[in-house]
Amino acid sequence: MSQTTSTTGGNAASNAEAFDAVDIIRTKRDKGVLSAAQIDWTIDAYTRGAIADEQMAALNMAILLNGMNREEISRWTAAMIASGERMDFSSLRRPDGGVKATSDKHSTGGVGDKITLPLAPLVAVFGVAVPQLSGRGLGHTGGTLDKLEAIPGWRADLSNEEMLAQLQDVGAVICAAGAGLAPADKKLYALRDVTGTVEAIPLIASSIMSKKIAEGTGSLVLDVKVGSGAFMKDEARARELAETMVALGKDAGVNTVALLTNMNTPLGLTAGNAIEVEESVEVLAGGGPEDVVELTVRLAEEMLACAGVHDADPRAALRDGRAMDVWNRMIEAQGGDPRAKLPVAKESETIYAPADGVLVELDAMAVGVAAWRLGAGRARKEDQVQAGAGVRMHAKPGATVRAGEPLMTLLTDTPEKFDRAKEALEHAAVIAPEGSRPAQQLIIDRIA
Ligand code: URA
Repeated sequence: MSQTTSTTGGNAASNAEAFDAVDIIRTKRDKGVLSAAQIDWTIDAYTRGAIADEQMAALNMAILLNGMNREEISRWTAAMIASGERMDFSSLRRPDGGVKATSDKHSTGGVGDKITLPLAPLVAVFGVAVPQLSGRGLGHTGGTLDKLEAIPGWRADLSNEEMLAQLQDVGAVICAAGAGLAPADKKLYALRDVTGTVEAIPLIASSIMSKKIAEGTGSLVLDVKVGSGAFMKDEARARELAETMVALGKDAGVNTVALLTNMNTPLGLTAGNAIEVEESVEVLAGGGPEDVVELTVRLAEEMLACAGVHDADPRAALRDGRAMDVWNRMIEAQGGDPRAKLPVAKESETIYAPADGVLVELDAMAVGVAAWRLGAGRARKEDQVQAGAGVRMHAKPGATVRAGEPLMTLLTDTPEKFDRAKEALEHAAVIAPEGSRPAQQLIIDRIA
């Protein structure tokens, strides 16, 4: 372990650093184990600019290639939590005066994944507070905040006090994470995004769990997606990620459970922003596509059980309007008008089934990329998204289709985007002879 002056290029580097970034990179490059003190220093020094981006990028790549052990991941997560503030929900009260339980859900990201929208108000129906700090989309996976911002007037940025007040009053809040929460992760994630190091399991696990633990939720349900439209394309890696995150949560005293769920095909029949809000409202009205309902209900049951509520019937709360009532109050509390007409794309183009048969595949990645190219997502953080853009699907795997029937409708305000979106969808739909069955299992496993 070196005690020399830092050799970083970071202009904020002091000349009395505890470690040398190059030694730390070499240790990981040579498959060594980083000490707790080295990890604490690395996260702190990077956050304050004493480790240069190129050094952190090299270390991230070494971690991606050579991994980290349980202790290293746990310490890395703790150091990221310590880089910022921790929220505290212990002042929330139930009607009987007891402390209100809190539960949150995190999805590793997928196409058409609007589950947070119906789920947060649904869980709140049963007296469990849901502090859902969400993000904006980058690349082919949509962002919850982009979807909700399609609702006229709705605002994502709340102060901690506003968030607490809404949790006490309405029971559910979906908002942007404040800048004070795990600032080390914000910097690291932006760097990983442009250096091909997002996919490292230790880095994904610590990134997600540092924010969730700092957020202060009492329990957490993770929806770890597997398949073409997910970060994790294969089940073994998704399982490893889920197990790592569940262990991190439990070590931090957060009751954590993970579901492994299928992301080979988009969730529901919409991928975009306003059209996903519309579909979520259908679910809250007791209808909507069965896969969205099934996953929403299952995640609600898991969140409620983690929070100590075992006798709830979430499906009934969707059918009888209780979840919709909380949704309306949740949207209004953040300035939105839940009854306002949602934005509609100016232009549309339809893709038709080329043959008779059974739709056996509808590739999530292809649909996600098409929705993104139509304007529903952004390529750079500063890009604006189009509220009305996206892909509306008319059939899901398992459906019988006839040649010439509509398969998908593409929506955008900028028709010059149609060609590139159609390119992405060229091989997205696979139609097999009648009698064929798609491989379909929405919930693959539960990890606790
Ligand atoms: N989501 C996160 O918050 N972090 C990651 O590293 C990947 C997905």
